[in-house]
Amino acid sequence: MKIAISGKGGVGKTLLAAYLSSMFARDGYSVLAIDADPDANLAATLGFPNPESIVPISDMKDLVEERTGTGGGKPTPYFKLNPKVDDIPEKYAVKYNGLRLMRMGRVKQGGSGCYCGENTLVRSLLAHLLLASNEVIILDTAAGIEHLSRGTAKAVDKLIIVVEPGRRSIETAREISKLAQDIGITNIAIAGNKVRSEAEKEYITSHLTGYEFLGFIPFDQAIVDADLGSSSVLDASPKVAGEVKHIYQTLLAAQPGDISK
Ligand SMILES: Nc1ncnc2c1ncn2[C@@H]1O[C@H](COP(=O)(O)OP(=O)(O)O)[C@@H](O)[C@H]1O
Ligand SMILES: [Mg+2]
Repeated sequence: MKIAISGKGGVGKTLLAAYLSSMFARDGYSVLAIDADPDANLAATLGFPNPESIVPISDMKDLVEERTGTGGGKPTPYFKLNPKVDDIPEKYAVKYNGLRLMRMGRVKQGGSGCYCGENTLVRSLLAHLLLASNEVIILDTAAGIEHLSRGTAKAVDKLIIVVEPGRRSIETAREISKLAQDIGITNIAIAGNKVRSEAEKEYITSHLTGYEFLGFIPFDQAIVDADLGSSSVLDASPKVAGEVKHIYQTLLAAQPGDISK
């Protein structure tokens, strides 16, 4: 199963990605959590030791150069568009608590004729993971979906757009949804987060009509407090965990039973 999580900054993408990754892992699934946000904090949220020491793939200069034939973003006549990537997860994924994690790093925006090695390597690696791997992949993205393409869209079983009660997050959700449909992603669902009342839930459903809603995660101050302190965010709130569990079960139920354990 391949799940991509998107939405405006700060809505709770990483929190949801971390919960889902750990729930799949706890049930014995083989999980690869991918942090595709340059401001990465998925590893920290999952409790990985020394999360800041995990080097993103795009920062591995030697690897980028070796695989794509470029160094420091300079194009060369020998640039490879299809670099070898299949051995990278085994070598560079970091393991903790029964799951594996990779940081992708920054993907520079195209349009300037940039065929940077970093972009090519990250995109090829993601395509390989989404298309050729049989494990559960949870992709925590930045606010956009620039890591996905027409080629990888068909492998995404579910694009979850996280929204909080608020106009800007709803607008961002609509934009993401449009971009996703443009590249051929059809399985899009909304997860509400930081919901404090029925009225706030109603606000979200009434502003995003026609979408599938996976669930509505309550706001819980305990999450904020755990985040400020150094205790585990994932253990901080039974209320939040309970609703994410419901989302998890909905995702599992929608999937034919061929996920690798
Ligand atoms: N349901 C919630 N209740 C309280 N705080 C939350 C909740 N969900 C997320 N947060 C807090 O909101 C902030 C942003 O969450 P995060 O998952 O990092 O968002 P994103 O990855 O979308 O930028 C974090 O400090 C997180 O602890
Ligand atoms: Mg995040």
